[in-house]
Amino acid sequence: MLRRLHPEQPESFAFTPANQAWAEAQITKYPEGRQASAIIPLLWRAQEQEGWLTRPAIEHVADMLDMAHIRALEVATFYFMFQLQPVGAVAHIQICGTTSCMICGAEDLVAVCKEKIAANAHQLSADGKFSWEEVECLGACANAPMAQIGKDYYEDLTAEKLAWLLDEMAAGRVPTPGPQNGRYASEPASGLTSLTEHEAGRDALNASARLATDIGDTIKRIDGTELPLLAPWGKQSGGDRPAAPAPAPAAAPQTAPAEEAPETLGAPRDGGADDLKRISGVGPKLEGLLNEMGFYHFDQIAAWTPEQVAWVDNRLNFKGRIERDDWVAQARALAEES
Ligand code: FES
Repeated sequence: MLRRLHPEQPESFAFTPANQAWAEAQITKYPEGRQASAIIPLLWRAQEQEGWLTRPAIEHVADMLDMAHIRALEVATFYFMFQLQPVGAVAHIQICGTTSCMICGAEDLVAVCKEKIAANAHQLSADGKFSWEEVECLGACANAPMAQIGKDYYEDLTAEKLAWLLDEMAAGRVPTPGPQNGRYASEPASGLTSLTEHEAGRDALNASARLATDIGDTIKRIDGTELPLLAPWGKQSGGDRPAAPAPAPAAAPQTAPAEEAPETLGAPRDGGADDLKRISGVGPKLEGLLNEMGFYHFDQIAAWTPEQVAWVDNRLNFKGRIERDDWVAQARALAEES
């Protein structure tokens, strides 16, 4: 693919003050005369701030590193991780199209992107909210098919679940990253077959999904205030260590929502149980647990009050996932469909 600068460029680029401090701290990692080594993190930060790499941003970074503009342009146009054209204001979707994902349904995911975003890769959706592209293996082959959305991975996707993710993000919500079929990590889809003693008491999310959720910047542009600025090498290298921005004020303690047990059923109604796996985030194992708790139908879940959501969430040790992934709204839509 030909990688060249977009024909329409903004007039100028400047880092936010916090990103500028971060960038200056990166430069102090390298010995005198070797500042150009910071080119990739600085270009990356510019992209995280703007969504894509503009010519003024590339040249601004080159000037900071005392490099000829052409040298920085060579780096930016060589690496595919740098977006050289505007991306969706909400999110850029990267669908893995390599072998494992392809045989597990990546083409269906691309079809969703073509239908819901734009006919061609790197083209903005009509409302400017999304863009997409097909990329090479992202290293999550055991959870194929998958997509990187913004900074995080959404795995074990189906066309239906990708379409739902796009609708949620368009509405301003960010569903929990990680496996979307109820799998914990990359264990067999039917559950662990060994080391099962480790299932008890573990966090509701695997480590990377937990980190993504805690940081909460999946599709956020980075302005430098997300994490404290740390430049621990500053003292050793003799470089000036920029002052860290003041830490964000601690969040007010949250009061746990009151709980109330929802009504349950001893068995599915006539006609059989609904396929609860159609709710994004529910896989075979979780469906089994919900059935054991007495939930078999979409309308049961659609009727949960916030207190009842809290009750179920606590029993599944989900730490808010039911609310974050909006099971109630998903179940309501599915109940209306059926
Ligand atoms: S083949 Fe898709 S993540 Fe590796």
